[in-house]
This record gives sequence, structure tokens and C-alpha cells, in this order.
Amino acid sequence: MEGGWPLMRGFLLCLPVSLLLQGRGDTFTINCSGFDQHGVDPAAFQAVFDRKAFRPVINYSIPTKVNISFALSAILGVDAQLQLLTSFLWLDMIWDNPFISWNPEECANINKLTLLAENLWLPDIFIMESMDVDQTPPGLTAYVSSGGQIHYSKPMRVTSICNLDIFYFPFDQQNCTFTFSSFLYTVDRMLLGMDKEVWEISNTSRNVIQTQGEWELLRINKATPKMSVGSNVYDQIIFYVAIRRRPSLYVINLLVPSGFLVAIDALSFYLPAESENRAPFKMTLLLGYNVFLLTMNDLLPASGTPLISVYFALCLSLMVVSLLEIIFITYLLHLATTQHPPIPQWLHSLLQHYTSPKKCCPTAPQKENKSPGLTPIHLPGLKEPVELVRKMPSPKEAELNGRPESTGAQQEPKAQKQHLLDLWIQFGHMMDSLLFHLYLLFLASSIITVIILWNT
Ligand SMILES: *[C@@H]1O[C@H](CO)[C@@H](O)[C@H](O)[C@H]1NC(C)=O
Ligand SMILES: *[C@@H]1O[C@H](CO)[C@@H](O)[C@H](O)[C@H]1NC(C)=O
Ligand SMILES: *[C@@H]1O[C@H](CO)[C@@H](O)[C@H](O)[C@H]1NC(C)=O
Ligand SMILES: *[C@@H]1O[C@H](CO)[C@@H](O)[C@H](O)[C@H]1NC(C)=O
Repeated sequence: MEGGWPLMRGFLLCLPVSLLLQGRGDTFTINCSGFDQHGVDPAAFQAVFDRKAFRPVINYSIPTKVNISFALSAILGVDAQLQLLTSFLWLDMIWDNPFISWNPEECANINKLTLLAENLWLPDIFIMESMDVDQTPPGLTAYVSSGGQIHYSKPMRVTSICNLDIFYFPFDQQNCTFTFSSFLYTVDRMLLGMDKEVWEISNTSRNVIQTQGEWELLRINKATPKMSVGSNVYDQIIFYVAIRRRPSLYVINLLVPSGFLVAIDALSFYLPAESENRAPFKMTLLLGYNVFLLTMNDLLPASGTPLISVYFALCLSLMVVSLLEIIFITYLLHLATTQHPPIPQWLHSLLQHYTSPKKCCPTAPQKENKSPGLTPIHLPGLKEPVELVRKMPSPKEAELNGRPESTGAQQEPKAQKQHLLDLWIQFGHMMDSLLFHLYLLFLASSIITVIILWNT
């Protein structure tokens, strides 16, 4: 019994201390006799307000646990040049203040109070990627529960740095990070926790998001690595926010018109090679495309080289190439009609080889005479020479038409010349159709490549 007495005394001494330390239990730090129908007596909280400069703990070796969550309510913009994401979010923070507790039963059943947040100690949690000063509006309030739990939420306009990759523009996704961390308190002073599960944050944000603008929220993930700076270790929570651009504006304004112009350019190969219109037509298209690029330049990201720029450059070069092609063909036909250069033997046999199985040259004019209405769908290589022969300002047209029958000796060199001209023209058309097919092949393969790249 004698040995038990000091032990008992020690226990009795310790009891009030431990009750005080817990801040809950039977000791209430707030005298709520002032809580009645007339409101709260400010003097009751004066002791708490006076301590707001200090972290509210009874034992300074115990870290304050702050639970955070947020709701992303708007994605205001993405600046690819400055690599900035501007968003708007509501940050919720919950922590315990052991100096606030009252008994609701004694206090007119008041469970929760709102207090001006500037009268309370607030955790200095910030977003590390933020490039803006904190513009928290003044006069925010916080909820204080009878158990001493403080619930503080504030709106934040966050301009955060984000590593943007615009290669796949306008079909791009971005993965931006929000790293919440304390500015000053290390892990033995402050610990961060999650107030909500990350999928809850993700779902709330998706429901709440205000702007139906350019960006769509895909999902939010989190990671909780500790950050060490020198010998200090800070607690932090990293949220990965994945957003996707809605491409319809760019598809309608950039891709579709550009595709139409290239399609018209490809179709203009069906204009007869001898027609005077083909080169001016292509020239006009090229000019139109340049004007289109100039006016739509504002829609493109200001920095980097997205795939879409490569696509535009490709379209432009295809148009230039097709213009060069018609210049080449026109030159060839012009050379053939004016200078009658001798045809090389290999070319002659090549032409014979490719034209003999189809139609022989003499039969074509007869057919032509029977049906003067030319169908424009025919490939140029087959019928166009005949048309040219008709259109040529040759005074001996009648003789030419009757060429296979006429066997006069003086007609022989002329007929030979005509045959040579036919061959050259045939060659021109063959080249035209060959280059057209190469053009189509290149067009198709480059479009397929770009589409495959966009889909990955
Ligand atoms: C609370 O304050 C009232 C006066 O405002 C005082 O009469 C009462 O004794 C106090 N109660 C406690 C538990 O300190
Ligand atoms: C404060 O807490 C630490 C660790 O929990 C403990 O070792 C220390 O004794 C406490 N100090 C006081 C004064 O209670
Ligand atoms: C913070 O969250 C943890 C786990 O979700 C919970 O145990 C703790 O009570 C919370 N703290 C506060 C102050 O709400
Ligand atoms: C974002 O990037 C981080 C690594 O940088 C990765 O862990 C995370 O899964 C990515 N999130 C999404 C949604 O792609």
C-alpha cells in the first residue's frame, strides 16, 4: 500500500494534464455561456484569436495534419508560348485547432460556427507550379466545429506552369500538375492528407466545370512523394490533371478547307493539258491557299512545330509541285509542236509498246469523227492528242484527217512529221498521267501518315 501511494499521486497529477493536452474530452476551451439566442460573445474566442500567429498545437513536436481537396471549376486557357495553364479551383483545407472546443449541449446546440478566416491561423499551402501571386479575396470565412475542426475553402485562380506538348495540335492532350505543398513547414511540422478520394475530386470537377470551352477534363491522378530541399523534407501531394482539347473548331476552320483546296488541286489534273486554263487555275488555287494560311494563322499555336503545320506545308508543296508539273507538260507540248525534235529510239519503242495494245493512232480519228462529244472522264493519254490535232491552227486539217488514205509522194514528209508530233504529244500525255498518279500516291501516303501520327 505504501509503495502504491506515490504512483497514485503521479497518476492524479497526470490526469488533468493529459486532458488538457487532448483538448477534447471534458475540458472545453471555449466558455460558451455567451452562446445564446443573441449570438456569440466575441470575448469567448478572444484567446483563440490572439494566438493566430502560432501554429495551433499543444505540443510542438506533433505535426499539424491538414487534409486537402479541390474542385477544378474552370479551365480558362492554355498558353502554348508561355507554357501556362490558367485554371480556377476551389481549395478545401481541413485541420484541427486544439484550442477550440465547446460542448454543444451547453451552448444552445450550436455545432458549427463561421469565423472570419483572417482571425485564425491558416496553413500556408500553395501550388508550386503557380506563377501568380495568390489573389485570395479578403473576408473569407471558415467553418469551426465544436470539436475544433476547421474547414476552410478558398477560390483560387491558378496560372500554373505546365509542360505543354503541341505536336499533336489540335488533337492534343496535356498532362498538367498541381503540387500542393507547405511553404514553410517541414514534415515534422505539417503533414498533408486527402480529404476526398482522388476519383471523387475528379468526378466533382467534371460535374462542376463551368466552361464548355476548348478544354475537356479527362481525369485527375495523384502521387504523394516527399520533397527534400537540403536537409528539410516537405510533405506534398501532386495532382496530375489530364485535359484534352476539343478539336472541332480547328477541324472545321483549318483541316476541312485545306483538304478541299488540295482535292480541287488534284481534280484539276483532269483539265486537259493543252487547255490554257490549267496553269492559271492552279496558280489561283495556290494564291487562295496562301490567303487561307494567312487568315488562319491566328488559330495556330504561337510556338513549336505542330504536326498541322507540317500538314499545311505538305499541302502547299503539293500545290507548287502540281503547278510545276503543268509548266513542264506545257513546255513539252510546246516544244513538240514548234520544234519537232527527233524522237529517241527507246522512247519510240516505249510508246509503241504502251499504245499498240489499246488503240492504234489511225483508228482514233475515225472514232473521233463518229462521236465528237468528248467525255472528259477519259484519261488524257488516250484521246487528247486527237483533240489537239483538231484544235491546231493547221491549214491542212482536211488533209490531215484524210492522212491514212492519202498516199501522195509530196505528202510523205508531212505525214511523217505529223506522226512524230503525235508521238510527242502522246508522250506528253503519258508523262502527265504518270506524274498525276505519282502525285496521287504521294498525297495519299502523306495523308495516311499524318492521320496515323494524329491517332497515336
Ligand atoms: C463562463 O463565463 C461566465 C461569465 O461570462 C462565468 O460566469 C462562468 O463561470 C464561466 N464558466 C467557466 C466554466 O469558466
Ligand atoms: C510532445 O510529443 C512528443 C512526441 O509525441 C513527446 O515525446 C513529448 O514528451 C511531448 N511533450 C510534452 C511536453 O508533452
Ligand atoms: C484527414 O484524413 C484522415 C484520413 O482520411 C483522417 O483520419 C483524419 O481524421 C482527417 N483529418 C482531419 C483534420 O479531418
Ligand atoms: C502525367 O504524367 C505523370 C508523369 O509525369 C504520370 O505519372 C501520369 O500518369 C500522367 N497522367 C496522365 C493522366 O497521363
